[in-house]
Amino acid sequence: MNPPTTASTHARDAVIDASKVIAALQQQKKDAAVADQPRLQFRSSRRTASLTGFRIRSVGSYAPPNIVTNEQLEQRYGFEEGWILRRTGIKERRFADDSQGTSDLAVAAARNALQSAGLQASDVDLLIVGTFTPDFTCPSTACLVQDKLNLDAPAMDLQAACSGFMYSLATGAQFIATGNARCALVIGADINSRIVRPDDQGTAPLFGDAAGAVILEAGDAAQGLVCYQLGADGAGGCMLDRPAGGTLHPATPELISAGRHFLQMDGRNVFKWAIQAVTDSIRTVLDQAGKTPDDVALFVLHQANIRIINHAMEVLGIPAEKVFNNLQSFGNTSAASIPLALDGALRENRIQPGDLVVMCGFGAGLTWGTGLFRW
Ligand code: UT7
Repeated sequence: MNPPTTASTHARDAVIDASKVIAALQQQKKDAAVADQPRLQFRSSRRTASLTGFRIRSVGSYAPPNIVTNEQLEQRYGFEEGWILRRTGIKERRFADDSQGTSDLAVAAARNALQSAGLQASDVDLLIVGTFTPDFTCPSTACLVQDKLNLDAPAMDLQAACSGFMYSLATGAQFIATGNARCALVIGADINSRIVRPDDQGTAPLFGDAAGAVILEAGDAAQGLVCYQLGADGAGGCMLDRPAGGTLHPATPELISAGRHFLQMDGRNVFKWAIQAVTDSIRTVLDQAGKTPDDVALFVLHQANIRIINHAMEVLGIPAEKVFNNLQSFGNTSAASIPLALDGALRENRIQPGDLVVMCGFGAGLTWGTGLFRW
């Protein structure tokens, strides 16, 4: 009888292929960089949609108590003094402690949102968790949250990186609008400190850990996403990626020792893309809705870099007092960024019922999501 060859062949391939995989990944990056050069015009879209008749009943957030300052990172890893603040606007961020997974942050944010709405976990009939740093590849983080909160609800993860909250919000809203859910818990949560290479100045100091949650329910006809746009440009995916650890390049000791499981970012090109994506998308959504920045009470953008936000706001002619930022205290918290900022804005009474709020997320994928939201 012939020996079963498939498994042993795969095992042998996995061992001899690690260096080839690293070389192939490096080549893939070079090819993409070359392909990008004449292209530098990134994909943009005029496609928008509208979904009203639902509202955000409450918002809650959670950031771990452990504050990590720029000075601590500069001393620990030899980062250039003052670079982080100068190039990003970030002063400090929060890091989860070793006992916490993304689901723990998500649960804490969800409890705060439920308490603020005066609802019980038993009221929730849909759970969506936007995250790109799940506790495990399988099961989903949403199922862990469902269990910890003891929900009687379908639960799913949605992976759209830093646009994860906007994608999750739009998805949850569809269930509410059709009446197929009455109370949707939508969470954005990420523990970025676990996926960056701690001594990489180009990524590590930019990111932090947090979770934000919203409760969606039916609202009046004018409330909800007056106009929104979700977009993707996968051709730019290799500008911000984690090459090893998935099915194409499973994590082998060689790939891990080469650091291929860490988040890698072509910061300069992501920066340029982000400025274009944010300005194009906000302009498109406002135009399609027949609105101008003057009609909008508050702009809440993904908190990646103050220079991206300031530049986009300048191009669009939006005054600083109409923009809410908290990246100086939390850094880039990926899918948590927008709901964490919404919670901060509500605490400062920056959003009133009936206000128009623009939310805009952008990040790996590449993905973006912009919503003109009637509160
Ligand atoms: O959450 C996911 C999304 N992540 C991000 O948005 C992060 C994006 N990247 C960054 O925040 C920054 O690139 C780092 C903080 C990582 C590094 O900053 P840096 O090394 O100081 O880069 P930079 O800002 O000077 O470079 C960005 C590029 C430069 O292009 P060249 O000259 O290297 O070809 C700038 O000239 O962007 C260019 N740039 C602009 N382009 C269009 C700077 N300001 C603008 C602008 N419009 N206003």
